[in-house]
Amino acid sequence: MKYIAVEKPRTHVLTIRLDRPQALNALSKLLLVEVADVLKAAEDDEEVRCVVLTGNDRAFSAGADIKEMPEGGIPMWGEKGRLQSWRTIDNFRKPLIAAVNGWALGGGCELVTLCDIVVAGENARLGTPEVKIAAFAGDGGTQRIPRIVGRTRAMLMQLTGEPIDANTACAWGLAVEVTPVEKTVDRAIEIAATVAKWSPIATRMIKEEIRMNETMPLDESLSLERKLLLWQTEDHDEGIAAFIEKRQPRFKGR
Ligand code: HXC
Repeated sequence: MKYIAVEKPRTHVLTIRLDRPQALNALSKLLLVEVADVLKAAEDDEEVRCVVLTGNDRAFSAGADIKEMPEGGIPMWGEKGRLQSWRTIDNFRKPLIAAVNGWALGGGCELVTLCDIVVAGENARLGTPEVKIAAFAGDGGTQRIPRIVGRTRAMLMQLTGEPIDANTACAWGLAVEVTPVEKTVDRAIEIAATVAKWSPIATRMIKEEIRMNETMPLDESLSLERKLLLWQTEDHDEGIAAFIEKRQPRFKGR
């Protein structure tokens, strides 16, 4: 991997660190492909139950690589590999937690919105400055950001191009908590470790069901939720048995 570093800091937790500091972790095509490839492998790896995505203290990611744009031109945006990488990240079925310090702009902010839980460092600045280069947040930002923060806040962010700070991101629902910069990654890993304690079948189903909010009308998603509830798993039996026997459950993902 050229632009990312992958670590396993805790049992069942995988960390992906965007590692292109000289360009503030700008999302070059290769960087996106690398993230997607690691997630694809993590999808099938039973050892991995939760993934933390982070950058460095200065930048989570400053967005699409503006320096690739003159050469790539308009076709670059519709390029199959690029779109497929975004789709792979979006479709990742295990919980994905973002630890965001510094800049999360444009595609970097869109990447944050694909994460299931977001922890922001005090220096985090999230925004969609595309308007400044006469573009727009075209990798999902015009659609996902208003669903999270509401229409007028999304308008403010996207029409002015000005970033919001960590506390505002938290108040608007783009992040769940604000931490000192040096604690952001540890806190995300701590949350991931708690998620990873539970049955991977249950956490995957919870993600799938909550994500149905974004894609389905309520009557359809409620009916699907009821069907999903009919599933019987060994982990569910184990969870009930552990509660009754007053012991810790041992979930096996079956
Ligand atoms: C390529 C980038 C980059 C980017 C920063 N760099 N952002 N390279 N693509 N998105 C590079 C700089 O050119 C510079 O390289 C180095 O990273 C450090 O950046 P500086 O600008 O010197 O740092 P600073 O002064 O601290 O300013 C930080 C910043 C600024 C405010 C984040 O870099 C900035 O405004 N970046 C652009 C952010 C942006 O517009 N993102 C949205 C992109 S469009 P050198 O070699 O000079 O040291 C997008 C989606 C478009 O995401 C979708 C259309 C469909």
